[in-house]
Amino acid sequence: MGQKDTIFGLDIGTTKVSATLAQLGESGIEILAMAKVTNTGLRKGQVVDIGETVSSISAVLEDIERIAQIPAQNAIVSIGGAHIETISSKGVIAVARPDGEITPQDVDRVLEASRAVAMPANREIIHVLPRSFTVDAESGIIDPVGMTGIRLEVEAHVISCASAAVKNLVRAVNQAGLQIQDLVFSPLASAEFALNKRQKESGVVLIDIGAGTTSVAVYEEGDLVHATILPVGSMHITHDIAIGLKTSIDLAEAVKIRYGNALKDNVRDVDTIDLTVLDPKELQRPKAKYVAEIVEARLGELFLMIKEELSKIGKDGTLPAGAILTGGGSQLNGLVSYAKQSLHLPVKRGVPLAEYPGNVDKLDDPTYATSIGLILWAMGHQSLTEISSSPKKMSFDSMEGVVGKAKDFFKQLLP
Ligand SMILES: Nc1ncnc2c1ncn2[C@@H]1O[C@H](COP(=O)(O)OP(=O)(O)OP(=O)(O)O)[C@@H](O)[C@H]1O
Ligand SMILES: [Mg+2]
Repeated sequence: MGQKDTIFGLDIGTTKVSATLAQLGESGIEILAMAKVTNTGLRKGQVVDIGETVSSISAVLEDIERIAQIPAQNAIVSIGGAHIETISSKGVIAVARPDGEITPQDVDRVLEASRAVAMPANREIIHVLPRSFTVDAESGIIDPVGMTGIRLEVEAHVISCASAAVKNLVRAVNQAGLQIQDLVFSPLASAEFALNKRQKESGVVLIDIGAGTTSVAVYEEGDLVHATILPVGSMHITHDIAIGLKTSIDLAEAVKIRYGNALKDNVRDVDTIDLTVLDPKELQRPKAKYVAEIVEARLGELFLMIKEELSKIGKDGTLPAGAILTGGGSQLNGLVSYAKQSLHLPVKRGVPLAEYPGNVDKLDDPTYATSIGLILWAMGHQSLTEISSSPKKMSFDSMEGVVGKAKDFFKQLLP
């Protein structure tokens, strides 16, 4: 098997680096290896210690190569952090051909035109995602290629990030011996994993609760409407518990996972937590309700931020397919009920959209959602179900346009 046939998704998160190596076989995606290692080189989704991040990437790479027995040289890499911004932009061009037929080159040109937004010198554009095209007076067009017109207009999302953040990330990946094929805004990758086409059509919000951040991506009529990263994650709940109980972070983390509950009303007044089970030196027996109150207070802050994001785009409580939760923090006891009450929406945990051979046990682990999502993103933004049921093989050559552009972009960035 050559390098060309495999895709390597690398999710560099605040607490862990997770990676998935996959290939497209006869029956769809085959996962060749999945692995994760802890990472201490990031704060709130941003690389703050390149050396630590390089060690974590190298360790995960070693695991993947050992399991799959194939070297990985190129990676599709996630980028997160609250420095990332999405703005709407428009581009307009005159159709090139004298007969007015719109070609893929016209689409490239109009997208290029929509990139021409006033961007401060310290920011880089990572994605330009078309929302819809207008050909002359006809608006709401999804794919204008082959249509006829004089004027082509696009409405696009321009996603940009702080230059320093992307440079540090690229440097860490390169120093671990990997080339970056593409850089993907992490909520878009998580959404590829956890949302199906039907949900995206009806209207849905993806909420990826990580350690240092929470990613939010809203889809409607199949398209991305809004995406953002909030600077609060499950690690903040751990820190609050450590302060409230006056314990170490490690013990607070264990308390959160084992005894934490998102809803204080779910916890009986009489229940206490025997901390000696987790650490023989800890003799206190805090009330389980007290811990739930701490958890609920921080969730209150986080869900208020999520609701504000939804009301910014007029979608507060009005998304028919509701909210889908993923990320490690989504595993908190009682969180689905809490989110239903808070958002006034149907809420479910994201599940893998199809079964595929290899590493099946890890598919249920939501801390892999982004790294698997990166692979789906690379496969042309198709849902897993579509890929696995489709008899036609995806052409990896078709990815090379995107990848080539990405490589040029990284060359420009680095000396
Ligand atoms: N069973 C559980 N219950 C509650 N929280 C959990 C559970 N398992 C893991 N977590 C939390 O999930 C978080 C890690 O999730 P994840 O791996 O998705 O984050 P990350 O990708 O490293 O961070 P980020 O996306 O913010 O950069 C940790 O804060 C951890 O405490
Ligand atoms: Mg994450």
